[in-house]
Amino acid sequence: MSEEVARVATCPVHEINPMHPEVLKSPWMMNRRLRKEAPVFQDPNSGIFFISRYEDVVKMAMDHETFSSRMLTPSRALTATADKEIQEVVESGYPNVPTMLTEDPPAQRRYRKFVDGAFSPKALKALEPYIESLSNELIDNFIDDGKCEFLSDFGVPLPLRVIVSQLGAPEEDLPLFRKWTDAFIGNLSQQLDRDGLLQAAKDMVEFQHYFVERMEERRAEPQDDILSKVVNASFDGEKPLDNAECLSMLSQILVAGNETTSATLTEGIWLLIQNPDQYELIKNDPSEDMISRFVEESLRYSSPSSNMFRRTTKDVEMHGITIPENSVLFARFASANQDSERFPEPEKFNLMRDNLREQVAFGKGVHHCLGAALSRREMNVGFKVIFERMENFRLQEGASEPQFSANALLHGLTGLDLAFDKVG
Ligand code: HEM
Repeated sequence: MSEEVARVATCPVHEINPMHPEVLKSPWMMNRRLRKEAPVFQDPNSGIFFISRYEDVVKMAMDHETFSSRMLTPSRALTATADKEIQEVVESGYPNVPTMLTEDPPAQRRYRKFVDGAFSPKALKALEPYIESLSNELIDNFIDDGKCEFLSDFGVPLPLRVIVSQLGAPEEDLPLFRKWTDAFIGNLSQQLDRDGLLQAAKDMVEFQHYFVERMEERRAEPQDDILSKVVNASFDGEKPLDNAECLSMLSQILVAGNETTSATLTEGIWLLIQNPDQYELIKNDPSEDMISRFVEESLRYSSPSSNMFRRTTKDVEMHGITIPENSVLFARFASANQDSERFPEPEKFNLMRDNLREQVAFGKGVHHCLGAALSRREMNVGFKVIFERMENFRLQEGASEPQFSANALLHGLTGLDLAFDKVG
C-alpha cells in the first residue's frame, strides 16, 4: 500500500486528496470513507464535488435537468491549455462539439437516434459469430505458450477489432486506432505533461482527418456499417449530421467502447485468480447464465467508467450541503457499485448476488451506455471461449501484482501477466 493510500485511511476526511495518482490507482479506501463520512465532498484543489453513494449517484443520473452533461469533457485538457503550439494543432482540426455524452436532452436524444439502432441487442446478435471467431483467433496466438499478457493479447484487441470493423476501417489501420484511443484517454487522464498534450493533440487531429475521408467515402457509397448509418441518417426531413458532429460521436464510440470493455475483461480474469471459490463455480457450471453472472459481477467490481462529469443547473441541497449552480460534480459510478447499502459485503466478489443486475457500471437514465449490449456480448462470448480453451489461471512466475492506472475517469489494470493451462 502506498504512503498516500495509507494516509487516506487515517487522516481527517477533508484532508483526502482524491486526485492524487496513488489514490486514483487505489480509490477503495477513499470511496468507503466518502460514502460514510462525506457523501458530498468538495475537492479543495479541483473544486469538483464528489458524490459517492449509490442512491445519490442514481438520482443524479436520472435528473438530467438539474445535473447537466454539457461541458465538452473529452477535450477539457486541451482547450484549457494556453500553449500556442498546442492551440495551433487543435485549430487545424474540427471543433469539438457536444453530442451524446456531452449534451443534454433533447439534443442528446436526437444524436442517440442516429446510432441506437446500430447498437440494439437485435442488431448485435449478427455480430456473435465474428466475436467468437475473433476470440479464438486471439487465443490461437498464445495458447501453446501457456502464458500471455492478457490485456494487450486479448483484452485490448477484442473490443478494438470489433469496433474498428463496425466503423468500416481496414484491419491494417488497427495500430492507428490504438494510438488515437491512447491520445483521447491520455488527454482525459489530466496527467499528461506539455509534450504529452501536444502529441495527444496531433493524434486527435490525425484521427479527425482520417475519418473525414472515410465519411466522404460512405456518403458517396454507403456500406453495411455503423459509419454509413451515422453519416447518412436523417430523420423527419432534418439535415444529416455535419462532419464535426459525426467526429464527436465517433470519438465517443471509440474511447468509451475500447478501454472500458478491455478493463472489465482483464479485471474479470484477475478477480478469478484472487477468488478461486468463484472460479470453481464457473468451472463446475460454465453455462450462459453463470458466465453472465460473472460478467455482471465483474462489471460491478471493476466499474471502469468510475466517475462521470455533471454540472449543476441550479443550487442543489444534498445531505445538508448546498452545491451552488454551475458546480462541477463527479457521479461516482464505481463508488456506487461498492455501496454496502445496496450490495451487502461489497468487497466480496460474489457471482451469486441476488441483485447483480442493479450494478450501475453502464450508468443510468438518458445517458445509459450506448454500447452496453455490445460490450456485454463481447464479454459473454469472449469469456465463454476463454473457459472452453484455458483453465487454472494464475500470475506468471515472478510476475509482480498487476497495477491500476491513475486516471480520474477510467479505472483499469495496466497489464496482467497471465499463466494458464490448456483445456484438455
Ligand atoms: C465495460 C464496458 C463499458 C462501460 C463500463 C461503459 C460505461 C458507460 C457509462 C457509465 C456511461 C454513462 C455516462 C454518463 O452517465 O455520463 C456510458 C455512456 C456511453 N457509452 Fe459506454 N461503457 C462501456 C462500453 C461501451 C461501448 C462498447 C461503447 C461503444 C460502442 C460505449 C459507448 C458509450 C457512449 C457513446 C456513451 C454516451 C451515451 C450518451 O450519453 O447518450 N460504451 N458508458
